[in-house]
Formats: sequence, structure tokens, C-alpha cells
Amino acid sequence: MKEVFDREKEIEQLKGSLDSPLILLQGLRRMGKTTLILSLLNSLRKRYIFLDARSFESREYIAYKDFLSVVEREINGKIKRFQGLEKFLSRVRGVTVTGFSISLSWDGENRVNFLDLLERINEWGEERGEQVFVIIDEAQELIKLRGYNLLPSLAYSYDHLSNLHLVVTGSQVRAFSGFLKLENEESPLYGRAYVKVELGSFDRDTSVQFLRKGFQEHGIEFSGGEEVYEELGGNPGWLTFYGYIAVKRGFDGALEETKKVARRLLRREILNFLKEGNRLGSRERYERVLRTCKQGCTWSDVKGSLEALEGRKINDATVMAIINNLMDYSYLVKTEQGYELADRLLSEVP
Ligand SMILES: Nc1ncnc2c1ncn2[C@@H]1O[C@H](COP(=O)(O)OP(=O)(O)OP(=O)(O)O)[C@@H](O)[C@H]1O
Ligand SMILES: [Mg+2]
Repeated sequence: MKEVFDREKEIEQLKGSLDSPLILLQGLRRMGKTTLILSLLNSLRKRYIFLDARSFESREYIAYKDFLSVVEREINGKIKRFQGLEKFLSRVRGVTVTGFSISLSWDGENRVNFLDLLERINEWGEERGEQVFVIIDEAQELIKLRGYNLLPSLAYSYDHLSNLHLVVTGSQVRAFSGFLKLENEESPLYGRAYVKVELGSFDRDTSVQFLRKGFQEHGIEFSGGEEVYEELGGNPGWLTFYGYIAVKRGFDGALEETKKVARRLLRREILNFLKEGNRLGSRERYERVLRTCKQGCTWSDVKGSLEALEGRKINDATVMAIINNLMDYSYLVKTEQGYELADRLLSEVP
């Protein structure tokens, strides 16, 4: 697995969990979720279907036909690697096979049922004695899917399709509570056991080595890792972007450029978080806490800084609720001393 730096612990965890019917891979933007799961499965020569829900990010809602076209494109891209899969799929109502290409009907009586596809893919795996991984990348976007309820199909797959393994990536609350609703008794997936692997920022040392190695590959001896870590923190995505810009356009302005891009992405995330939880009214409070926790914070730092913001006493329950919400979304992580930001640049979003 040449592209993945470090992450040994997470890779071991994932490797040890590949028999599980449901794996959750959790992490904030750019932490390396997609890279990690794809390079692991590629290096193990595992078969997978990769459903990229991120592509729906800017949509207000997703029509079933749009979801099916993502599925269709992915299967067509992979079908040669799944020898004979087209024969299995040709038995599904609404599927037309032409040579090595399938097309999925989304209209009327003949509309393809996603679950039928899963069943046939599972049969294919069964016949060949192979596991097939169905990766739903950034699953939270699928909350917006209309006209088809995915959860019963996923639950059926979990319970009955033993050659299929679901890998769901996303940020904790949005993907796992919001979409899969694993803790909701009403949800078809309620009570199912799963394995959760969490990707956080690199620590200081790892970040410094990561940068050094990256630059070395371009023939550059880089000794500024400490400073870059101070500014960007250890999100491998930002570090990678920084390296890319520095190699392409020189070091001048590379940090600022990276921060600009990171801030834009993180701002969108935070805005979603505020909107989804009807928290827009408390926006200033949340932003204040993120700033306060830039270099780590304690509960009383948070309380003090909120009180300074509003010029009045804030009760403990309110402080706790804000901290808990930020932790639920993996923005804030508990440490021995108190809390720290999962991604240092969250402090610069406001
Ligand atoms: N462990 C790693 N080793 C090398 N590069 C990494 C690692 N983790 C992340 N990267 C790089 O960081 C960038 C972001 O990674 P990736 O797209 O996998 O993250 P993600 O969590 O899926 O992000 P997003 O939330 O945008 O989907 C990529 O350019 C990737 O190559
Ligand atoms: Mg990704």
C-alpha cells in the first residue's frame, strides 16, 4: 500500500474487520477516509463497488434515477473485473446488458430495485467464493435520496447477503446517526453490530515526517515541518495540499493558499452542522468555542470564553450541550487535559 502514510493502527483495525457485514469509517473532511479504504482493498485485491455519494453534495435532493446512474457508472467501470457478473445482473428486472455494459431502467414498472442488484452481486460472490465490498462514501448525502428507501435494502444485505460487506464512510453523526440511524429503534438497521474505525489528524511527529517524505519524493530537503504543523495541524489532506502547492508554485504563499482552501471546505461543513441541528441562532457561540479551543481547551476555558462573548453568566448545561454537540460531530475530541479540535483549522473558519 504505497500511497498510505502511517495509519498502521487503523489499517490493522480494518484488516481485522473485513469479515464484518458493516464497517463504519469515520473522519472529518480530508482526513484520508477514501484513500485509506480504497488502497487497503486494492492492496488486498478485494472486489468492491464504490458508491460516491459526495458527488451529490450540492444537491437539494437526490432522485432515485440519479442514484441509479451512479450505481450504473460504477458497475460499468468495474464489470470486467467481476468476470461473469453481467450474467447475474441480466436476471434483474430493469437491467439491460449489452456486451460488457449494463443499463439500469429507472422508470415505471421496469424500475430497477437496488436490492435486486445487491442480491445478484452477492450471488456472484457466493459462486466465486469471494467477498464483495459495497462502499458508500460520504453516506450522509443519501439522506437526501427521494423515491427509494435504502435502509431496508442495507439491512437485508446485512442480514442475508453474507458475501457482501458494507463500508460506510462519513462524519460520525451525519452519516451514522443521520443516515444509517443505527441507534434509532425505528430504523431497519437498529441493533446491528458494526465495526467503527476512526481517522483523526496526524500527531506532530507523524505530520513532520509525512511532509519530509513527501518533499523528498520531489528532491526537496524540507525542514519546516514543525512550523507547518503549528499552522495547519495534522490533517493529512491539508498537509498534502500544502506540499502540492509548494512544489508547484514555490513556498511563498503556500500556507495561506492551503488555509484558504481548507477554510472554505470546513466552513461548508460547519454551516451544514449549524443548519441541520437548527443551530444557526447559536452560530456565534459555536464559532467562539472553536476559536477558543485552537490550542486545546478545558471546560472552564469554554465557559469563560462564552461568558466573555455574551457579557453574562452562561449556565453549565448550555456549555455542556455545546461541547457535546461539537463532540458528536467529531469536531472536538476529548483529551486528558480537556478538549482539542479534531482539525486545527476549524478554529479559523469564522
Ligand atoms: N495516510 C495518508 N497517506 C498519504 N496521503 C494521504 C493520507 N491520508 C490522506 N492523504 C491525502 O490527503 C488527501 C485527502 O484524502 P482523502 O480524499 O482520502 O480524504 P477523505 O477523508 O476521503 O476526504 P473527503 O472528506 O474530502 O472525502 C488526498 O490527497 C490523500 O492523498
Ligand atoms: Mg472522501
